[in-house]
Amino acid sequence: MLIREATADDWPRIWPFWHRVVAAAETYTWDPDTTEEAARALWMNPAKRVYVVEDDTNDTSTGDDTAAVVGSAYLTSNYGGPAARIANAGFMVDPDHGGRGIGRALAEHILAEAAAHGYRGMVFNAVVETNPAVRLWTSLGFTILGTVPEAFDHPRHGLVGLHVMYRAL
Ligand SMILES: CC(C)(COP(=O)(O)OP(=O)(O)OC[C@H]1O[C@@H](n2cnc3c(N)ncnc32)[C@H](O)[C@@H]1OP(=O)(O)O)[C@@H](O)C(=O)NCCC(=O)NCCS
Repeated sequence: MLIREATADDWPRIWPFWHRVVAAAETYTWDPDTTEEAARALWMNPAKRVYVVEDDTNDTSTGDDTAAVVGSAYLTSNYGGPAARIANAGFMVDPDHGGRGIGRALAEHILAEAAAHGYRGMVFNAVVETNPAVRLWTSLGFTILGTVPEAFDHPRHGLVGLHVMYRAL
């Protein structure tokens, strides 16, 4: 797989899995009905560095030699002014390609990028406590600073907490 900075042309290949993940309403605090235009404004925001994961196992059967985009992440400041060196990031892997190590590789890449760009720490503001990703973040050195109880109405688990997670860089 290849991880690189995204260009505007990548958006049409991010949107299908972005939509699928957000419409499932299990992991992100965005409106599950977010339109494509609003989603692009959120994810491809010029204030964010956006990355994509390309699957380099080329599928020649489609006759399309454009590599598939199987994941994306953003990196930005979590706060402004004197706190601008604390980062925030968001991650999405196409559910059809989940469980193959793409999320872990992307997270390791973003952590390295954040350190290289001078960030001193990274905060996740709202990690749904039932998200299997909590285990991934913990294994990468994040700790749970606190939990907002019963903040997130999960379609299967009902009201669950939102963790604030942090890692020094
Ligand atoms: C979280 C996410 C980015 C992980 O991507 P992924 O490519 O499936 O993850 P990986 O294959 O690299 O797995 C990483 C680890 O997380 C765990 N994990 C991740 N997703 C899991 C799932 N759905 N079920 C069980 N375990 C999971 C695995 O145990 C794995 O551990 P290992 O590396 O020790 O084997 C992806 O599931 C996703 O996009 N989810 C929806 C959006 C989301 O939740 N984003 C994060 C918001 S905080």
